[in-house]
Amino acid sequence: MSNPLQEAFNRTAYPITGHGKRNVQVLKEALDAYEGELDSDVYGAGRLIEDFQGKMAGILGKEAAVFFPSGTMAQQIALRIWCDRRGIKRAAYHPLCHLEIHEQRGLHELHGIEPVLLGGKDRLIDLGDVKELDDTIACLLLELPQREIGGQLPDYGELEAISAYCRERGIALHLDGARLFEILPYYRKSAAEICALFDSVYVSFYKGIGGIAGAILAGDAEFMERSKVWKRRHGGDLISLYPYILSADFYFEERFPNMERYYEGARELAGFFNECHQISTLPEEPVSNMFHVHVKLPKERLEPLLMELYEETGVGLTHYLREKGEASCYFETSIGDRYARIPKDELRRAFALLNEKLAAAL
Ligand SMILES: Cc1ncc(COP(=O)(O)O)c(C=O)c1O
Repeated sequence: MSNPLQEAFNRTAYPITGHGKRNVQVLKEALDAYEGELDSDVYGAGRLIEDFQGKMAGILGKEAAVFFPSGTMAQQIALRIWCDRRGIKRAAYHPLCHLEIHEQRGLHELHGIEPVLLGGKDRLIDLGDVKELDDTIACLLLELPQREIGGQLPDYGELEAISAYCRERGIALHLDGARLFEILPYYRKSAAEICALFDSVYVSFYKGIGGIAGAILAGDAEFMERSKVWKRRHGGDLISLYPYILSADFYFEERFPNMERYYEGARELAGFFNECHQISTLPEEPVSNMFHVHVKLPKERLEPLLMELYEETGVGLTHYLREKGEASCYFETSIGDRYARIPKDELRRAFALLNEKLAAAL
C-alpha cells in the first residue's frame, strides 16, 4: 500500500532521525571489520559469544550476561525466573510497557504469569505506586526511559528509593533497559551504577546502538544459567548468532561514545520544535536521544503540509503520523548519526518554514 508521507520522507536529503537506512550495508560494514577465519559461536558456546557476554557483564556490573536474539524473549524469561524463585506468578509493570502492548500477552500465554499494571498510562510509575503493591508480586519491571510516553525518566533519587523499597520487600527489580546506554548522559551515571539498583537488566543493540537485532540479559550467575535453559526451550539458541553479536559489538564500539552527542542533539531539536506554533514535545526537555512531537492539527491536515516542507527544504521530520483524538497527532523521534550531518542553516530554514505553514493553517 502506498504511503505518500513515507515516500516523501524517503526522498529527503536530510532525514533527522536514526543513524541511516536499515539495509544490508549495515551488516556488511560490521562484518568487514572481522577476519573470515574467526570461529562462529555454536549453540551458545565459543569464544565469540562468551567474550561478548563477559564484556557486557562487566559494563553492566553483573556477574554474568547472556546474548539473546530478542529483548522480547530475554525479558519474558527474566520475569519467569523471578516468578519461579519467589513461587508467585505475578509481575508488575507499566500499562504501556513493551510486554503489555507489543508481545501478544506472551508472558501470560507462555508462562502463565499474571501482569499487574502499575501507575497511569500518561505518567511514570512512582514510589507511591510501588508501595501499593501487596506481597503477592514476584517482580517489578521498570522501563527506562518509558518509551510510549516520550521516553520519560524518574529522578535518580526516586529510582534509588524504589530500588531500596523492593529490596526490603523481597520484590525482584528488573530493568527494561532497551535504551539504557541512551540515558547515561542525562543521569551522569555509568551503566553499572544504574544496573546496581536492579537485580536483572536487559539492553538492546539495535536502538541507539544501531545493530541488526539482539539483546543482552544480565544478572547473578545462577539466574543467568537458568536463563540459558529457557533460551533453549524458547528456540533462542540458534546454532550461530554471530551476525547479531559481531554487529552488536561493532556498533557498540562505534556509537557508545556518541550518546552524549545524540542526547544534546535531541535537546536542541526539541527546542526547534517547541518554538513552532501548535507543537509541543514530550518531554519538553528530552532526557535521552528520543522524544515525542505532538501537533495540534489533525493528521490529514498535517500530512500534506509536511510533504510540502520536505519537497521545499529536503529536511525530513518523520515518515509517519499517529492520530491522537480528532484534532491532534504525534510522532516519535530519536537522534542518531544522521542529525549531526544536517547543515544547521538548512535545519533552521526548515523550522522557520514549518512555523509559517503551521501559523497559516490556524
Ligand atoms: C522498551 C522496549 N523493550 C523491549 C523491546 C523488545 O525488543 P526486541 O525487539 O529485541 O524483542 C523493545 C523493542 O522495541 C522496546 O522498545
